[in-house]
Amino acid sequence: MQLSCPVCHALLQADTEVKSLRCDAGHSFDRARQGYWNLLLAQRKKSKDPGDNSEMIQARRRFLDAGYYWLIAEQLNQLLIAELSGIQNPHLLDLGCGEGYYTVQIEEALSAAGFSPQIAGLDISKHAVKAACRRSDSIDWLVATGADIPLPQGSLDALTLMFSRVMPAPMARALKPGGLLIVVWPGPSHLMELRELIYDEVRQREYDPTAELDSLFEPLRTETLTFDFEIDSAQGIDDLLTMTPHGQRIKPAVHAAILEHGQLNCHADIRLGVYRRRQDDNAI
Ligand SMILES: C[S@@+](CC[C@H](N)C(=O)[O-])C[C@H]1O[C@@H](n2cnc3c(N)ncnc32)[C@H](O)[C@@H]1O
Ligand SMILES: [Zn+2]
Repeated sequence: MQLSCPVCHALLQADTEVKSLRCDAGHSFDRARQGYWNLLLAQRKKSKDPGDNSEMIQARRRFLDAGYYWLIAEQLNQLLIAELSGIQNPHLLDLGCGEGYYTVQIEEALSAAGFSPQIAGLDISKHAVKAACRRSDSIDWLVATGADIPLPQGSLDALTLMFSRVMPAPMARALKPGGLLIVVWPGPSHLMELRELIYDEVRQREYDPTAELDSLFEPLRTETLTFDFEIDSAQGIDDLLTMTPHGQRIKPAVHAAILEHGQLNCHADIRLGVYRRRQDDNAI
């Protein structure tokens, strides 16, 4: 996929061996050994090692690879296939891609449906992107910030944002007018039984990014996906806790008791919001 310079936003060109990228102003970026591009500028980092840490990434990878959330990938992919029909060669960015579980399935599903997609996955965590590199070498993996997406303005047909914070202006900038945005977030009863074990009072407040997106994105619809699943190993439960913020808030005694029990019935409540970038360029 065509990338742009995080310093000056000019287009980046690869050298003949695709080992480095350079813009006309001479800013250059080397390809990491694992195959990703590091386009995160030091001054953009709010901490030395931003984003999810290695432990969270490994836990999320084990949990997702165990298949507990395969229905989410399935519904996301069906949605993309339907909404992208007629675009033979869609350019898609998975923003906040983590260790790439959904990104790779998007690529496989679109290819199987007859598309020739060009896919990039971007995350601020280098631990996440390093792990993602092991999943596919046909995806462009980027360590960068979603606050300044290193892709040319209006270059994307679609952008997916799974369980990550919305950044409306940079997302709209990277998308073509009319481009597709799919945001996936947890609904109010997501992992309710787990939260009841952890918190004295479980908040029922519903998150919905539609209002925050509204000036730049036209909402088409929000789909709801609910399902129940059972985790039947201490490792699986520990992974779920480690990959979510709940793990840091759980009392040690409760943590030990859940792991000891070794079995947890869970309810998933997922929202998939479908949006189109508004045509009005002045808004960006
Ligand atoms: C809850 S995880 C979701 C990962 C993946 N989408 C998934 O569902 O498996 C949120 C991800 O957002 C990343 N992230 C946080 N701030 C970011 C930023 N400013 N730009 C890009 N990624 C960011 C984190 O490193 C983390 O991998
Ligand atoms: Zn430059």
